Amino acid sequence: MIVISLFSKIIATFILIIYSITLVEAQFNCPSTPSSKEDLQTFIVQLSSPEKAIDHYDFLKSCFNKEINDNIDQLIDHTVIKIASFGSFICYIGQFSPSEAAVLASSPGVIRVENDKTANLFAPTGTNLTLGPVGGNGNLCTSLTEFQAPPNLDRIDQKSPPLDGKYRYPATSGLGVNVYIVDTGINTANSEFGGRAKLGPAYCDGCSNVDDTGMSIGGGFSQILNNVTDQLVNAGVHVVAAAGNSATDACNISPASAPNGIAVGATETRTDATADFSNFGRCVFIYAPGTNITAAGNSAITALATYSGTSQAAPHVAGTVALIIAKDGNKSPAEMKVELDKLSTKGIVTGNVSRTDLNNRFLRLPDCSK
Ligand SMILES: *[C@@H]1O[C@H](CO)[C@@H](O)[C@H](O)[C@H]1NC(C)=O
Ligand SMILES: *[C@@H]1O[C@H](CO)[C@@H](O)[C@H](O)[C@H]1NC(C)=O
Ligand SMILES: *[C@@H]1O[C@H](CO)[C@@H](O)[C@H](O)[C@H]1NC(C)=O
Ligand SMILES: *[C@@H]1O[C@H](CO)[C@@H](O)[C@H](O)[C@H]1NC(C)=O
Repeated sequence: MIVISLFSKIIATFILIIYSITLVEAQFNCPSTPSSKEDLQTFIVQLSSPEKAIDHYDFLKSCFNKEINDNIDQLIDHTVIKIASFGSFICYIGQFSPSEAAVLASSPGVIRVENDKTANLFAPTGTNLTLGPVGGNGNLCTSLTEFQAPPNLDRIDQKSPPLDGKYRYPATSGLGVNVYIVDTGINTANSEFGGRAKLGPAYCDGCSNVDDTGMSIGGGFSQILNNVTDQLVNAGVHVVAAAGNSATDACNISPASAPNGIAVGATETRTDATADFSNFGRCVFIYAPGTNITAAGNSAITALATYSGTSQAAPHVAGTVALIIAKDGNKSPAEMKVELDKLSTKGIVTGNVSRTDLNNRFLRLPDCSK
């Protein structure tokens, strides 16, 4: 909602200013842009601050004949741009020729200009299963225990194998913690969610928010996406990102490569080796089980589905962050990374991470008995 109100404030201010200057010719020395017949492309332009935006919009109108408009449908007529902002982060998206984009990049108030990129779905692989209910909860000390727990959950409550069939988690569960999921959508009615899931807005053209079984979204490296991710973190949001499923360096993709987020690589649930699809490298902060993960499916309210992917590993970490917050109270995102590091088991992940790498961290839940 912060985002929306800032939009409207900017737009309102902009409209006022437009009214007051329409009779006075804007005084910009418009840069000359080569008048070649280049194709228009979609660019994302990051501005240095919301305060700089108004001048820049005037410049766009005078020199590029483009106006801001928050209606994405009108983007197709190439004369309007759409703004997105969060805190001091502000960018807009619009269509320009590459030469115009180069001119924009060196215009006052502009930090950087990037080609818009297609975000890929980190599509999981796997089969849909329908299983019976798993175990039951009993009270043990200040923890709850799920018996006959699936191996992925069983694995993250203990330092090393063998698995004991139990999943022990702090009794406070994730009480009072909101987890916002940016993905392809979920079936909120699934009984696994116990009525706790709600849909947020859909963020792409023609998208539905009820779609699939929770594929994460990510794409090629984008400094702007990394920047907004880090700004979210600076605003106190814990951002957990899937490292990606291309068996390549996670530093090449965004938002996994945003330095202050928490990028999660996937391990083989049964062996703690990096999953053969998992991205790796120094941009991965932590590893969690990511193969053969059974969770809520979307086909029916009791459906379960089994998938493999870093999109399956990342929710283990997001859930652990929620457990930590419910148990100890919130902390800053930087302190949360320190806490995840402290809890993690070091040097046990094999495969595409060396045992001595500082980021050879395997996820572990807080121990409720302490
Ligand atoms: C799982 O089930 C959903 C809904 O029935 C279907 O769309 C999807 O393709 C299935 N996935 C696999 C991997 O079979
Ligand atoms: C996948 O998980 C299911 C349910 O937890 C288990 O029965 C099965 O043996 C696992 N398969 C593999 C290949 O690990
Ligand atoms: C975002 O990018 C700008 C320009 O490079 C930089 O000054 C700023 O520190 C970045 N912010 C974050 C949170 O990374
Ligand atoms: C390691 O990464 C390579 C690609 O660089 C990939 O082909 C291989 O499957 C990965 N192996 C493991 C164990 O993750």
